[in-house]
Amino acid sequence: MAQSFDLLLRDASIVTPAGIVKTDLGVSAGKIAAIGDLRANTAPSIIDASHLHILPGVIDTQVHFREPGLTHKEDLASGTKSAILGGVTTIFEMPNTVPLTLTAELLQDKLDRCVDRAFSNYAFFIGGSKENAEQLPQLELLPGCPGVKIFMGSSTGSLLVEDDAVLLQILKNGKKRVAVHAEDEPRLRERRALAETAAHPRAHPVWRDEETALRATTRLLAAARAANNRPVHVLHVTTAQEMALLAQNRDIATVEVTPQHLTLTAPECYERLGAYAQMNPPIRDAAHQAALWQALQNGVVDMIGSDHAPHTHEEKHHAYPATHSGMPGVQTTLPLMLNHVAAGRLTLTKMVDLLAHNPARIYGIMNKGSIAVGMDADLVLVDMQRRETIQSKNMAYKCGWTPFDGMAVTGWPVATILGGQIVMQEGEVTAPPSGKMVQFG
Ligand code: DOR
Repeated sequence: MAQSFDLLLRDASIVTPAGIVKTDLGVSAGKIAAIGDLRANTAPSIIDASHLHILPGVIDTQVHFREPGLTHKEDLASGTKSAILGGVTTIFEMPNTVPLTLTAELLQDKLDRCVDRAFSNYAFFIGGSKENAEQLPQLELLPGCPGVKIFMGSSTGSLLVEDDAVLLQILKNGKKRVAVHAEDEPRLRERRALAETAAHPRAHPVWRDEETALRATTRLLAAARAANNRPVHVLHVTTAQEMALLAQNRDIATVEVTPQHLTLTAPECYERLGAYAQMNPPIRDAAHQAALWQALQNGVVDMIGSDHAPHTHEEKHHAYPATHSGMPGVQTTLPLMLNHVAAGRLTLTKMVDLLAHNPARIYGIMNKGSIAVGMDADLVLVDMQRRETIQSKNMAYKCGWTPFDGMAVTGWPVATILGGQIVMQEGEVTAPPSGKMVQFG
């Protein structure tokens, strides 16, 4: 007798690592059980996916969900709910919460808080600092930890590794890839008066200029070489100069860009959005953006992460530069990138490399990130033709806004499947929280 699955997706365009195949996909016990002609098979739940693409669920390796300590901006429930509404099935959360995630106990506290509350799968970075540098070899191996995150320039929160001695000490302790926010703190301090005098966020990329980013990335690469070629992951790269440098250091450095740096441009975004466009490192001009796209095409960019960094309206209405830096994005990453696919700026398969295949491979995530028999059934169903308008009111963010409000896009996630269960359909959450801790192999 023909096998019965828990869920059958019929006649879909399935984005596999080997290319796009038009066929059926069967799910059993939370796993992808079969891919191929399953016309003879049955399931209690069958979806006609003939007009849809199936992608691996998006893996967003940079989000700030603010719990504990800053839950007026976001929390683990609202953040992970936003994730599944946007087709993101796994998130890696950052350590600049209050308190900072610097110990095994604080990491465990975050994991405990996810039980019965997380709508997506999750893992938590441990912060790297002078205080915990010697413990990092043990800390980075804790369950649910993708590795260590360092801030070289001040951003939201007090996590900071300013000098090369501590940077080197951290990089010498441990083996996993270290994720780094690369802005040069001494230069930021030197130039802060520029921001204060301008008193408008249009000065953000002037204060935090390309040299600020390049100096930090240059120092980071030198330290990584000195630490026995420790692998590093440079988060949200924003400049042409860094991309040129990183292209020469592929053996030790992987690269992230964000959808907002690929989509918004200075000076227009600051005139239109004011402090809502303010983030670190800043949105820069069209020439830098073109260099990011070029690097993406040339294979220098490995991943796209949202750097989801929500702040309240109130926090965005202080007097610049006291306005908080960061913008939310976990729910709009996939729509924005699908829109770039529709506009011909990258192929769908390249997009899936950046959003799922590469994050899973580079961080060693077990059983996720690609569509193949035996993998976890974390999937997103996408209508490539669907025209939608991104609206703040449809975001599940606690902050209640998106810088992309009013933007029309082509391509839209219509359903999210997590561990074989349909958890989002047509913009509605359809199941209680069932996210699990990510396993690393
Ligand atoms: O603008 C930013 N905001 N950049 C970061 O790296 C941190 C983030 C935050 O946590 O608010």
